[in-house]
Amino acid sequence: MVFRWQKKVRKNVNNKLRKRYGPWALVAGASEGLGAAFATQLAEAGLNLILVARRQDVLQMFGDQLKDQFHIAVHCIGADLSTPETGKMLLQAFEEKQAGLLIYNAAYSKVGPFIERTAHELNSTVDVNVRGPLLLIHALLPRLIERRGGVVLMSSLSGNQGTSGVAAYAASKAFNSILGQSLWYELRPLGVDVTVCCAGAIRTPGYLSVASKSGEVREAPGTLDAAVVARTALRALGRKPFVIPGRMNRFADWMMTRLLPRKLSVQVMGNAMRELSAANSIQNVEQTRGENR
Ligand SMILES: NC(=O)c1ccc[n+]([C@@H]2O[C@H](COP(=O)([O-])OP(=O)(O)OC[C@H]3O[C@@H](n4cnc5c(N)ncnc54)[C@H](OP(=O)(O)O)[C@@H]3O)[C@@H](O)[C@H]2O)c1
Repeated sequence: MVFRWQKKVRKNVNNKLRKRYGPWALVAGASEGLGAAFATQLAEAGLNLILVARRQDVLQMFGDQLKDQFHIAVHCIGADLSTPETGKMLLQAFEEKQAGLLIYNAAYSKVGPFIERTAHELNSTVDVNVRGPLLLIHALLPRLIERRGGVVLMSSLSGNQGTSGVAAYAASKAFNSILGQSLWYELRPLGVDVTVCCAGAIRTPGYLSVASKSGEVREAPGTLDAAVVARTALRALGRKPFVIPGRMNRFADWMMTRLLPRKLSVQVMGNAMRELSAANSIQNVEQTRGENR
């Protein structure tokens, strides 16, 4: 149920998004889950969209839906954010469309022991999660300053202390968190808004596939719908450098980073990831069996 005051807040946020950052926004990693929720809420606010994901067919179908439903223009780019060529393509599209908002949502993550990660997987973590947002924001900056635009970066509670089982991913999310907060202060006098959205578990296809064991989904406490996370991040843009969606997640983060000794908080996160990793390795075995058939 949506209350009248909530409708009013949404209307104000939508007006701000359209007037301040429109007429175009770019969502990197937009075809499903949280990326699709960001795209839907921006479309609802009346912004035209540049959408990016690797599976062009899935992305195009989603883009067509948004066009029909919200009567906006959509430009779909099927590309891999881990390559430098994609960065150039996105810069060109951003300039051509006179976009004013970048949502960098896509991330590469693998759950399991660090020793089992291949060099390719570790490089992908750095390419998609670190190099991608870093170089894209830097390249778009003249445009963002000119348009007094905005940037939303996605981080994770796993990046607020050590998190074994997703060591490289967690470290990459810590990078985004610090990058975004630093730029919030540095770019504010230049008229550019930056917000880091530091999420706990989100009901996205990626998370649900990792959290399911024998067909049963075992969600972490405080798991949120993608729409709630996207709405919280877009509301915080221009108001806060850093936001954690969900009361339970804010409380958990306070406990882990302020209350518990670091040794204990790292152990708690590690144990939670070990459970998730066990579910995931069963699933990987089943997937491999399926592929061998
Ligand atoms: N899900 C969670 O529980 C959770 C928790 C904390 C933080 N987060 C953060 O929230 C963000 C969304 O996470 P999610 O995993 O749940 O993803 P998602 O938003 O459900 O989907 C990822 C999107 O990015 C695209 N994508 C992935 N890799 C790409 C690449 N290399 N190049 C271009 N597009 C790519 C995917 O489409 P294609 O596959 O077609 O490319 C898809 O559209 C991430 O930054 C993540 O770190 C998530």
